[in-house]
Order: sequence, then structure tokens, then C-alpha cells
Amino acid sequence: MNLLAIKVQADRLQKDLLNLAEYGQEPDGGMMRTALSDADLEARRWFKSRMKESGLHVREDAAANIIGRLDPTEGPTDAPCIAIGSHIDTVLHGGKFDGALGICGGLEAIRAIQESGLFIPCPIELFVFTDEEGGHFAGTFGSRAIFKMLVDNEIHRSKGSGLPSIAQDLKRMGKDINSFDDVVRSPSEFRAFLELHIEQGPVLESIGVPIGIVEGIVASERYIIKVKGRAGHAGTTPMHLRDDALVKAARIITSLNNTIISIGSDFVGTMGQVVVKPGAFNIIPGSVNIFLEIRSFREVIITLGREAVQGVIRSFDNVHVEPVVSKGCVASDLAIMDMAELSCRERGIRFHRMGSAAGHDARTFAQQGVPTGMIFIPCKEGRSHCPEESINWDDAAVGAQILADTVLRIGSETK
Ligand code: GLV
Ligand code: MN
Ligand code: MN
Repeated sequence: MNLLAIKVQADRLQKDLLNLAEYGQEPDGGMMRTALSDADLEARRWFKSRMKESGLHVREDAAANIIGRLDPTEGPTDAPCIAIGSHIDTVLHGGKFDGALGICGGLEAIRAIQESGLFIPCPIELFVFTDEEGGHFAGTFGSRAIFKMLVDNEIHRSKGSGLPSIAQDLKRMGKDINSFDDVVRSPSEFRAFLELHIEQGPVLESIGVPIGIVEGIVASERYIIKVKGRAGHAGTTPMHLRDDALVKAARIITSLNNTIISIGSDFVGTMGQVVVKPGAFNIIPGSVNIFLEIRSFREVIITLGREAVQGVIRSFDNVHVEPVVSKGCVASDLAIMDMAELSCRERGIRFHRMGSAAGHDARTFAQQGVPTGMIFIPCKEGRSHCPEESINWDDAAVGAQILADTVLRIGSETK
């Protein structure tokens, strides 16, 4: 099979990415398209129509995952598919390319494969997963729903009182949350899973290489640290008689941050959100929830870090920890990495093998034993999860090209 016949169209991909960025764009260029928000729903409608225009059979399951399917030109239509996917939701005040590149690049790859006239040896499915970023609760919701990996009661939980659970938002969309029958898939239905993504870090840009071939994805765990104090009047309660939950939380945060640093460079921890209750000028904070996330590429370090963090928390009174979610490290499929590398070599494109310190839906597939690979492109100054997230358009096209080549290489070279 002459894979050089596959030619992605850089302009078409750029246009799609810019078009998608109109949904939820803020005045400063940042993106506010959290999962199942109005902006997200509009973006999903637009993307579904783009998928249909490209000849995909599109369906949306009860977990709101969007799936576009292309049948093979030869061979059985019920053979295991090669799946491509990413997400359309963004973090709060996020960027235009995290997730968006994967779905628009995936669609461009499929269009280029169709236009090449090469035979398509097995079904190809393009997934837009629901709530990868964890806007509602734990993240990678859609991909975990597919493999029954949701945590107990997760669909009814939210990140804070007053915020909708995913069940509420799915109901708002008219979904039946009592039956996920059309969501659940068996790993054996997937011959491979591939995700194209921006690197979200500085490595590729710093070495001037357009393609990262991902060797594995980091482990991450999330916790809510619940700090209890005593609410009271901010004017009448003398300072020495207070039990101010926020003051205590500040000490916990500093102490945890020092402990996290002491574990070393292959461990990171972030307290990215603090919820103070009741939350007013004139009330002493009665309770604080601290959202903590820890990550490492090595399970042994995650265990060490988790124990150190728990030790710090135990040293404070009236504080307890609620685990939210734990996602293990995964390795990419060696044969897929080699096929991505071969695709780069054939086109004379420089590549670099590297780990992903960001989480992705690809991790879910790898955890299920589906042969999984990821392709990265650089992002400007390594910035991501912020409005400054930016890419070079040529790199986006190269990423989609290597994705397309790798899909057909997997299809034609493996059984
Ligand atoms: C996904 O963007 C993550 O949190 O790593
Ligand atoms: Mn992200
Ligand atoms: Mn992402």
C-alpha cells in the first residue's frame, strides 16, 4: 500500500480548528467550553455536521460520546475497528487546541484516507469523548463510561454544591441515564486506539521537532481535602477564639507543597482549586475543600507521594481526605510506536519519543489492553490549559498526516 498517497489538507484542518474555536471563545482569546455547557453543545452540533459531511455514520451514545464510523472498503464491516479520538470540552479559560486538535485532526486524517483512494481494511471510528477535562467531577468520563470504569455514584457527583452533576446535564440533553447499554463496548471491538494531541509542555518546541511519539502516560490521583473550622461573626469573634478553616487550609497547602517538592523531580502535585464556605467578607470560614492532584510516571513514586501527602494531612485536626479518582500509568503499544516512527521516516519528518505528563482518553483504552498510541505536536512555549495555548499550523497538518498514515499502516500490517 502506498501510504504517500494520503495527503491531508492543511488549509481545511486550519479552517476547522478556527471554526471550532468560535464556540466558547472569550474576549481574550481563551476558551470557555466546559463539558455539556451551552457552548459545548453548540460545538458538538457543528462537529457532528462536519463528520456527516465527511461521510461518517454519526451516533451519540447515552454518555454523550459522539462516534463517527467509516466502513471498510474491503472486508467485514463487523471487524474490530481502529478508533481515533479526543475531546471537544475545554478547561475553564483554556486554549483552542487541547482536545480540538485531536478531533479535527482525526477528521482530517479520515478525509485524507478516503480521498487517497487506498482501500480501507477495517472500520475506522472517530470518538469525541464527553468531559475529558473533568468539568463535572473526575475527567475522562466518556471513555471510562465505555469500559464501565466509572467510580461509584460518579454521575451524580459534582465539584461543588450548586454545580451540576453529569447526570443532570445528560438529562438536560434528553439522555436516559439509567441505561448505558449503548455506551458500553468491549475492548475486543478495538484493534487499536490513536489520539493526536498538543504536547502541552515545552520539549518538542525546545528541540525543534514537529512530532512526539508517546511512549506512555503518567499516573494521576485526585483527592478532596476537607478542612473543618467554625463559622462565626467576622467582627465580634476575637482572633484568639477562632477556628478559621481557611487559615488552617493555607498551612496545609504550604506544608503539602513543601512535601511534594521534597519527593523529587518525577513527582508533581497541584492544589488547583479551593472552595471556601460560606464565603463572605464578614463570616469566618467554616469549611474549606482543597482539590489536590498528584502525578508521576512511576507507580512506586505515586505510592511514596500518596503516603507522604496523607502523613501531612493526618498531622492536622479536623481534616479528612476523600479520594476522587485514581488513574494508573500506561505504556503505549510498541508496534504502534514503531508504525508511527516508520510513517515519520517515510515522509522525512523528525520525531522524538517521549512520555505524556498530561492525562488523556488514550489512557483509558490502554488500561483496557487496547493497543494504544499517541502522537504529539509542539505547542508554543509549552503553554496549555490557558488562553495562550498556540500551535504552528504546519505542525497540525504534519500531526494529522502521521495519524492518517499510522491508521492505515496498522490496518494493513496487523491482524
Ligand atoms: C488533561 O488535560 C489533564 O489534566 O492532564
Ligand atoms: Mn486538558
Ligand atoms: Mn486534552
